[in-house]
Amino acid sequence: MSTSEIVPVPPTFAAAARIDRATRDALHDEATRDPDAFWRRLADRLDWDRAPTQLKDSSFDRDDFRIRWYADGVLNACVNCLDRHLATRGDKVALIFEADDPATPAQHVTYGELHARVCRLGNALRNLGVRRGDRVTVYLPMIVDAVVAMLACARIGAVHSVVFGGFAPQSIADRIADCASKLVITADEGLRGGKRIPLKANVDAALKMPGTHSVETVLVVRHTGAGIDMQMPRDRWFHAVTDIQPDTCEPEHMGAEDPLFILYTSGSTGKPKGVLHTTGGYLAWASWTHEAVFDLRDDDVYWCTADVGWITGHSYIVYGPLANGATQVVFEGVPNFPDASRFWNVIDRHRVTLFYTAPTAIRALMREGDTPVKRTSRASLRLLGTVGEPINPEAWRWYHDVVGGARCPVVDTWWQTETGGILIAPLPGATALKPGSATLPLPGVQPALVDAEGALLDGEAQGNLVLLDSWPGQMRTLYNDHARFIETYFSAYPGMYFTGDGCRRDADGYYWITGRVDDVINVSGHRIGTAEVESALVAHPHVAEAAVVGYPHDIKGQGIHAYVTLVTDREPDDALRAELVQAVRRAIGPIATPDRIQWAPALPKTRSGKIMRRILRKIAEGAAHQLGDTSTLADPGVVDSLVDGARRDE
Ligand code: WTA
Repeated sequence: MSTSEIVPVPPTFAAAARIDRATRDALHDEATRDPDAFWRRLADRLDWDRAPTQLKDSSFDRDDFRIRWYADGVLNACVNCLDRHLATRGDKVALIFEADDPATPAQHVTYGELHARVCRLGNALRNLGVRRGDRVTVYLPMIVDAVVAMLACARIGAVHSVVFGGFAPQSIADRIADCASKLVITADEGLRGGKRIPLKANVDAALKMPGTHSVETVLVVRHTGAGIDMQMPRDRWFHAVTDIQPDTCEPEHMGAEDPLFILYTSGSTGKPKGVLHTTGGYLAWASWTHEAVFDLRDDDVYWCTADVGWITGHSYIVYGPLANGATQVVFEGVPNFPDASRFWNVIDRHRVTLFYTAPTAIRALMREGDTPVKRTSRASLRLLGTVGEPINPEAWRWYHDVVGGARCPVVDTWWQTETGGILIAPLPGATALKPGSATLPLPGVQPALVDAEGALLDGEAQGNLVLLDSWPGQMRTLYNDHARFIETYFSAYPGMYFTGDGCRRDADGYYWITGRVDDVINVSGHRIGTAEVESALVAHPHVAEAAVVGYPHDIKGQGIHAYVTLVTDREPDDALRAELVQAVRRAIGPIATPDRIQWAPALPKTRSGKIMRRILRKIAEGAAHQLGDTSTLADPGVVDSLVDGARRDE
């Protein structure tokens, strides 16, 4: 891969940017030489009930482990996202809701209106017995009420756990059970690309599953108007309980280290991890990075196409942009409905200036050619961003040249659910770009590369990406499982946070993320744990064993390849294949649908019985000639039959 292709900062962009080269250098300098001043600068962005005197207080050493930021500060995240804008921006549009169906008129919600809606729901939640510290599960489509729900929880100190609308009942139930939610907020149905998603029915099914008895109330937003079962007194209409409430609601005074939300993400073992973020540091980091990386100005119209079910929606739809008083588009739909011009039409319709999406969407739209883009103007755009997975230079080029008309910097932002906000990304007025690289760490962020033994690598190198020290947006723990938190992130390389990503650093110090090095697959920017898919497969009575690996996929980044060994008396056929695909969709959701199921007479194992995934990955990649050392296999013959099987399936 060429590291020499450099796209300089457009001079006109640099001239007007919030952070030019000199400012960037000064910020890096401050973060290195006087970190307290830099961390205070971030805290000062927020409105505090009591300003923090403590700043960073962290150690990744096992014996002295702690991650605390601004710990004696007191604030409310919702107040920071709404109330403090009312005096100056009460009539400014906060959200422009663009529905799935382009014929539905857009709705404009001002900061003042959003504040009133959030207050009404906050009061309703309190009336329903939700108290500070209680958990609330949010399972909603991308509608304004999803934002309202999250902020209402923050206002009354409840901890939200948003579950992506594409997850199946079993996944909802697991996430409710893990954090013992008291209340669920959902809608009758979701709508995506003209298809209806039975959200309420999914919640009903989830609440019949074991471990979900903590739920006392289900609030239901009437969205599509579909007929649904309402089970009284458990189920209540959202509008019925909120309409009668006053427009003001006293916010809780929260400690900076009080939990703000839990967000479940896939790990390398079966059980999803409840990533816990707290209030002060998270909000400061989301807000600062949003302003710095997107070069946000007061008159921008920002649009992030993520779903609030993912961290990108939390940090860069809800908390970052609203803390910054931005105007943004909230989009219910999908990139290719009703046609491949949808994104670009929405950009023209609402004069979007800052646009943030995922490489998988860019690749899918690139495949449709330039015409659907070029029949739109996109003249309002001034910056483009990507997130979620590595972007191949070809897709980067197309995004930059065709979508952005070669005028707009592309910010490739590397971060994770666990990091709370962006850590490696260009500052668009200061950083020269390299297509395919997330470029350089933000001020205050200390990435490093280590080899398999944990030795730090200098200069140009390839290794595993770690962070040497804390930043304010860092997750604090896994909900109810601090031991797993330490084990997952701080035990591979003692004293360092391990990201799970592989990475290369070039001679200019630019970072090139190469993808996950653990048993997590990144499918269209969604993290899928191989163990979760495997356990869904082996739950089928005819499956004896299953092993799941990722392989390169043109659109999705990675696809899911499942090797399945059947019980002895069962012959494989297409009906069983379809059943297994259904089993995974039912257990996890459509996002985990296997792209390939390969019948495997046996799986390659070491003599001690460990499945050799490295070999399975190579076979799935079609790189059987590079299997490497297979001498530790108990039965090397297994590999040949799998290689033949993979060829036959092509
Ligand atoms: C991957 C999404 C390359 C990476 C914000 C990471 C990326 C995982 C990038 C986190 C990027 C995210 N370039 N890879 N710009 N951004 N990733 O938790 O493997 O859903 O570990 O957070 O996505 O995914 P998550």
